[in-house]
Amino acid sequence: MAMSFLPSSFLGALLFLMCLGYLYPGVALTNNGGLSVTKHYKFNIRVKNVTRLCRTKSIITVNGEFPGPRIVAREGDRMVIKVINHVSNNITIHWHGIRQLRSGWADGPAYITQCPIQTGQSYVYNFTVTGQRGTLWYHAHIAWIRVTLYGPIIILPRQNESYPFVKPYKEVQIMLGEWWNADTEAVINQAIQTGAGPNTSDTYTINGFPGPSKNCSSNETYRLKVKPGKTYLLRLINAALNEELFFKIANHTFKVVDADANYVKPFETDTIYIAPGQTNNILLKTKNLSSNAKFLMAAGPYSTAASGTFDNTTVIGLLEYDVSVSGAKNSSADSFNIKSLSVPPLPRFNATAYVANWTSQLRSLGNSRFPTNVPQTIQRRFFFTVGLGTNPCPKNQTCQGPNNATKFAASVNNVSFVMPTTALLQAHYFGRGKGVYTTDFPKNPLVPFNYTGTPPNNTMVTNGTKLVVLPFNTTVELVIQGTTILGAENHPLHLHGFNFFVVGQGFGNFNSTTDPTKFNLFDPVERNTVGVPSGGWVAIRFRADNPGVWFMHCHIEIHITWGLRMAWLVMDGKFPNQRLPPPPADLPNC
Ligand code: C2O
Repeated sequence: MAMSFLPSSFLGALLFLMCLGYLYPGVALTNNGGLSVTKHYKFNIRVKNVTRLCRTKSIITVNGEFPGPRIVAREGDRMVIKVINHVSNNITIHWHGIRQLRSGWADGPAYITQCPIQTGQSYVYNFTVTGQRGTLWYHAHIAWIRVTLYGPIIILPRQNESYPFVKPYKEVQIMLGEWWNADTEAVINQAIQTGAGPNTSDTYTINGFPGPSKNCSSNETYRLKVKPGKTYLLRLINAALNEELFFKIANHTFKVVDADANYVKPFETDTIYIAPGQTNNILLKTKNLSSNAKFLMAAGPYSTAASGTFDNTTVIGLLEYDVSVSGAKNSSADSFNIKSLSVPPLPRFNATAYVANWTSQLRSLGNSRFPTNVPQTIQRRFFFTVGLGTNPCPKNQTCQGPNNATKFAASVNNVSFVMPTTALLQAHYFGRGKGVYTTDFPKNPLVPFNYTGTPPNNTMVTNGTKLVVLPFNTTVELVIQGTTILGAENHPLHLHGFNFFVVGQGFGNFNSTTDPTKFNLFDPVERNTVGVPSGGWVAIRFRADNPGVWFMHCHIEIHITWGLRMAWLVMDGKFPNQRLPPPPADLPNC
């Protein structure tokens, strides 16, 4: 009798849950009533022979798949992913963009949050997907192994929730990547030795396929079959090592609805700009055609590097309409010449104005259901320069970096980050940080200069493993200023463990008096990777509500290698639910 005032639907749901709970012990009620489950995955890291551009090459994969298998979660789900290393390289996996609230042990960057998983060893990554919906991705986070070791993370709304846009007929992932004929580990090891810039990739790829342009069989072309008059949700990911990209489909437009697993105010565009590390959900409305038609999709580089060396190819994929009743054979499917279709024109490789205009359209959705929680008051302000520089050539060695006498380096506030040989998070947690890192990362450049004017004569960086310490829940504003040292260049900066709000961006030197008055504190886009404009700056805000050690770096792999990386150490809060739990028992040792 006491329970009779409960709505019967509640009782029904409760009974249903109890049954589910019996069958699937992983099912639980979350505090806001949504169903959440624990999902188990097994990642066997194996080499696999793959043929691209007419050559067969042995690559490192997850379960023999390239790109790797999809991981599918609903918001609120717990993910338990066992990674078993069967290759001779050390491996770690980073779940790029996952907030990792109080689960920093599962973040993945080698020597930052964990020691690598050695050959024959395994590690279970255990984390919960909280407050995110859209597309993220996973990739190896050690050396350059992510070139082939990557895959999509699909985050669906909670079971009882829907998208804040038209329900798509189908969802498709589009992963853009790079294909290298050479062994990328050899390429980067040699570049580190000589101090020179590395080679570039041979082609870009769409879902692992380089397209038809290289006189190889057409089964190397990614093909997307669509029905007319439907809405497709494309989950676009830039997994390329070193290039920012444009993406376009001939005669079609897109509506952008999500960036880095955050909903945005929808806007129309015919060409997407996407930097390494970034993701976008975009809606593609197909045309009302009555006969089969084919259109090309294309992706190509946005590059501002002064060296001028970048992979200047365009990757082609195919959008194929299929008007037949499903099941009927589409006879014309294989008998056509892909070269007869026109490649959609992409912006020029150095179209910086296009990129600035495009990114300025990104705004948080910001409604009552998905509020924009941008910090309005700031406790700590930082100003970081990012860019290239040099290190001296060791005695008795010849170097091929700038002036043929130095080695390329890259830095944040002129500190080129030196990787420790043990994991920072372990060192911090067990109070053994002394001798591993220092906490004196400069909050401003030590020697101010005209960052976007004529570069200084001395381009030498300093080297160190320096962190910034933040008390729990600090609100942070960080202005990231690009420099012109060895050439202005766009740097897609990625922060682990947080999303941040992009409150402002501009060209030239940041002006701390006039620029903040123009900040967008109302609906700035929330993301985990932002391009610092070439010859300009970007301002971001975040709340340090996640205890741990959090890597921040340029997502252009060669810039990470050269040292454009640093880390934030966020302390525990007062309460138990503000503290980092102890490490899992199987956490690898160095
Ligand atoms: Cu997607 Cu630190 O990386």
